[in-house]
Amino acid sequence: MRLDRFIANLPQLNRQQTQRLLVERRVRVDGEPVTDGRHEVRVFSRIELDDELLQAGKPARYFMLHKPAGWVSATEHDEHPTVLDLLNEPDKHELHLAGRLDLNTTGLLLITNDGQWSRRLTQPQTHLPKVYRVETGEPILEEYIEAFARGLYFRFEDLTTRPARLRILDSHHALLTLVEGRYHQVKRMFGHFQNPVLRLHRQSIGPLQLDPALAEGAYRALRADELEALQRAVADASSADGLADGIEPD
Ligand code: URA
Repeated sequence: MRLDRFIANLPQLNRQQTQRLLVERRVRVDGEPVTDGRHEVRVFSRIELDDELLQAGKPARYFMLHKPAGWVSATEHDEHPTVLDLLNEPDKHELHLAGRLDLNTTGLLLITNDGQWSRRLTQPQTHLPKVYRVETGEPILEEYIEAFARGLYFRFEDLTTRPARLRILDSHHALLTLVEGRYHQVKRMFGHFQNPVLRLHRQSIGPLQLDPALAEGAYRALRADELEALQRAVADASSADGLADGIEPD
């Protein structure tokens, strides 16, 4: 909501008085005076008028989890435990996932109570590179590299996948970098070559690496520097277009 609307909603204040308070620098958001009524405030914003606290601001929470296989990426499920069951946090009902992994995929999963943050991170226009380590049932052939870079046609969605980078590690292991997240995308890309994916692990999202100190099932809060780096990467990845699409050269 705009700051001027927030203030004008207070009892006994009209729009003119609100404008004056702003011009007189008497309103502070997160400790800083704000004079522009169009400034966006959120449930996480601390808003003060002179010495009066108008809104304390709910703490925004951001976690990285090392998802184990067998835990479902959902907040509720009839059959399987959910990744939220792994968190020992208050008010878990306020948390949601910023992206999903398949039931048997392991690796980096982000959890938050900040809907705006997770939307920006996961919306299709944000081509943030995500790196997956893949183990396959059949040998991985050189020809996959070009096919993945060119893009594969997905009949169901009637689309061609965005350029993806494949780095072959050995006959049955590779790193695959995607800038989108289609349904079962990695498995379908290897499935194009009748090569089943036996294990799939997400190592990173943009600049954020899964912390090697986190065992499967463990989680921790994101640090301020990680949040800042992610925010910068999302801004860059949203403005990037064309082939590069946020994938850095090797
Ligand atoms: N691609 C898949 O096939 N599964 C995942 O969990 C993530 C990407």
